[in-house]
Formats: sequence, C-alpha cells, structure tokens
Amino acid sequence: MDYCPIGVFDSGFGGLTVFKEIEQVLPQYDLLYLGDNARAPYGTRSFETVYGYTLEAVRWLFRRNCPLIILACNTAAAKALRTIQQKDLPRIAPANRVLGVIRPVTELAGRITRSGHIGILATRGTVDSQSYLIEIRRYFPGVNVVQEACPMWVPLVENHEFNSDGADYFVRQHLDRILAADPLIDTLILGCTHYPLLQKKIRSFLPPGIQVISQGAIVARSLADYLDRHPEIESRCSRRGRRDFFSSESAEVFDRSATIFYGREVHCCETRNLGTSMSDE
Ligand code: DGL
Repeated sequence: MDYCPIGVFDSGFGGLTVFKEIEQVLPQYDLLYLGDNARAPYGTRSFETVYGYTLEAVRWLFRRNCPLIILACNTAAAKALRTIQQKDLPRIAPANRVLGVIRPVTELAGRITRSGHIGILATRGTVDSQSYLIEIRRYFPGVNVVQEACPMWVPLVENHEFNSDGADYFVRQHLDRILAADPLIDTLILGCTHYPLLQKKIRSFLPPGIQVISQGAIVARSLADYLDRHPEIESRCSRRGRRDFFSSESAEVFDRSATIFYGREVHCCETRNLGTSMSDE
C-alpha cells in the first residue's frame, strides 16, 4: 500500500497536543502533521481568511495522499470545516474526509454536566463563530452555555510563559469572568489546542467541583471510533507507524518550540508553498 497518512492540521504548534494523543490511541497508522506557523495565529483573523488558509492546507494534505484530515485547530474547525465539508469536498475530493475537533468534545460535555451549565474558553475567532454554542444547543437544548474569549492565552503559551507568575493574572482574569457570567458552570471546555499547556494553572484557580475538558484524548478516541465505523476510509489509511511533520515556517523555528507541545523532539520539513498551492489543482 502507498503512503496514505492521516493528516492533522493546525494553524501552528497547538495541534501537536491532539497529534500526540492520536498517536497514543492509533500508533499503527501513518500520521502527517501540518502547521501553518508562517500565518499563525488564526484566532484573530476573519472568516474569509481562516477559510482560505484552511482550504489551502486541506488541498496540500490531499496532494500528500491523506484520505482523512483532522482539523485540530478549533479556529479552523469553527470557521471553515462546515463549508469545506459541504461545498469544497464534493468538488475537489469526494472520496476523502475532513473532520473537526468541536463535535466530539461538545458531545462529551453535554453528557457529563450535572448542573446543565457549560463554559467555553477559546480564541476570539472560535467564540465569535458560535460553533460550540450551536453544537451544544443542537444536541442538548436544555444546557446553558457561556463563552469567554481568552486572547492572551495563546501568546502566553507560544512565548513559553505558561508556567510563569505573569500568566496567573490572565488565567484568573478569564476564569473569574466566565464564572461570574454563570456561577452554575460545572464543566469547562478548553476550546483551543494551546490551552492544555495552561491546564495545571487553570485547575489551580478553580473550585473543586468544576471539571475541565481538554480535547486531545477525546478527539483521538472519537477518531478511533470513526475509523471503526467507516471501513471505506480506514482501509485507505496506511499503517506503518510513520510520523511526518511539516511547517510553513522554517524548520528551525518549528523544531525549537514543537517539543513543548509534543513532549518529544521534532524534526520537521519546511513547506513554503501553502499559499500558492491552489493554482496547481
Ligand atoms: N490552534 C488555534 C485554536 O485551536 C489557536 C492558535 C491560533 O489562534 O492560531 O484555536
């Protein structure tokens, strides 16, 4: 069988927190990571821009033979997934699939909340898209959802400040705000791939009854379940346990910070043509 990896896409490094959980649950599959680091962050960009960048990345991964792609970036999943699934996929690669990270997490949160009050912590872009709100309301109409955009959290993580005393202020600020907006919240979703690195700090500022959900393990289990239910896709994914990493930034820049998210050394390849890729379809 040819090399047909499962593609994992993120705007930058954050998706590595999802990638490493997928690797744990599905070690036999070939996995290819693509980080659009040169154009990150996506969280503050418009719908059109995030959609355009994400579509370019999806096309790039299809050209690398990925039959299945996980948009591990919440912002990309929130702003681009639906359009790509409904409009682009039938046209450019009808047999392939693109999945996101929002649905599996909202399904779990809706099931485990006891108070029926859920809080979403995410980038400004994800919050504005209302994607979490819409997903939860669709399946759990009685649940109350409050969202809080945390624009400083990604830069804190990217600048390796997630354990610093300085991070305390911004972590507390957003937790205080969301709990003031709805004191009955008992379940908080970390709706951004960078936030697992702040999880210890977040936990330390929360009262004990609140559960914090981070995405990686949930998305990995949901992917395993998807592959079980879709043999027509599963049989097209190659299984030699190979890992490849690509970044639209320089390899040196990527490798330097990737370890923080992945927990191990990474040696990536540079790919400088994400933005020009559409012309050669
Ligand atoms: N990876 C993005 C997300 O999960 C956060 C980083 C960014 O803003 O690009 O929303």
